[in-house]
Amino acid sequence: MIFEQVATGGCQSYLVGCGDTRSAALIDPELTQIDHYMALAARDGLRIRYLIDTHTHADHFSATRKLAQRLAVPVVMHPASPAPYADMRIGDGEMVAVGRLRLQALHTPGHTRDSMCLQVEDRLFTGDTLLIGGTGRTDLPSGDPEALYDSLFNRILKLDPGLKVFPAHDYKGRQSSTIGEELATNPRLQVRDRAAFVEMMRNLNLSMPTHLTEALRTNMTGGKSVAQLLGEAAASVPFMSLSELKARVDAADDRLVVLDVRERDAYEGGHIPGARLLPRGQLELRVNQELPDPTRRILTCCELGQVSTLAARTLREMGFLNTVALDGGMKAWREAGYPVRQGKEA
Ligand SMILES: [Fe+2]
Repeated sequence: MIFEQVATGGCQSYLVGCGDTRSAALIDPELTQIDHYMALAARDGLRIRYLIDTHTHADHFSATRKLAQRLAVPVVMHPASPAPYADMRIGDGEMVAVGRLRLQALHTPGHTRDSMCLQVEDRLFTGDTLLIGGTGRTDLPSGDPEALYDSLFNRILKLDPGLKVFPAHDYKGRQSSTIGEELATNPRLQVRDRAAFVEMMRNLNLSMPTHLTEALRTNMTGGKSVAQLLGEAAASVPFMSLSELKARVDAADDRLVVLDVRERDAYEGGHIPGARLLPRGQLELRVNQELPDPTRRILTCCELGQVSTLAARTLREMGFLNTVALDGGMKAWREAGYPVRQGKEA
């Protein structure tokens, strides 16, 4: 077995490959690590055949959808998963064949209804059902402490104590454990009475994960995160620095159209001298009147440099191929002490 473990903050993902056939599965991939996974697979001579999420993640952005589109391979999840893009669903006891390896699913609801653990040879990928020195929480959507008790004490803790445990999270940099070690030392597993365990899980009072709403939205639907949209836009437009723009404004370079895409009140409160107003919300519909020459050099600016990046991308898609975005925004422009003009342009 070829095995790679990739940590992203506290999230763990795994590349598991068959040494004979070089087929591989990627378990719980995270969106910002796509290049990392592809590079590891290339280095190890592996072809990723399956993308598996152990459950619907509420605390990180799954890369399964994006990788599935790029690699044209299936996304594997439990049948209870709400994700419409999961095109291969495996239930309890069923397996995914990765070359000569067999990844067997154990349905272990509790952290979420669609949680599963995956067993292959001497290892168990426990998702958020069993963590090193902890368990997944049960207070997020579809969580259920009673179900978690059964999944732990009546399922996975009855497996071979020597089985290695690889969880979907570890916040202390640990890589793995075993069923036996967890049974002996995991504080939550010392509470073996069902009612006491459920009571403990109901009273953890954990804070909500950051990006909860956005992670659930994107992971349940396959939609994009805000960072993904901005990252894609930034990858497709060139930028101009604040100081370069300042030099051109000082030189009264009229070959450059500075397009302020904020709302009118923000523009009139203070804009770059010579900038024209075209709010982002009206951009597509007013572009024909406002910008008749598609060959003009256009620079988009906004308050923080994000909306202007999206606007530049839109303009480039519409054929304004000489559009650049300001690297930064009006906030940084003002903080640099650069000139601003109030009210309307003459
Ligand atoms: Fe989770």
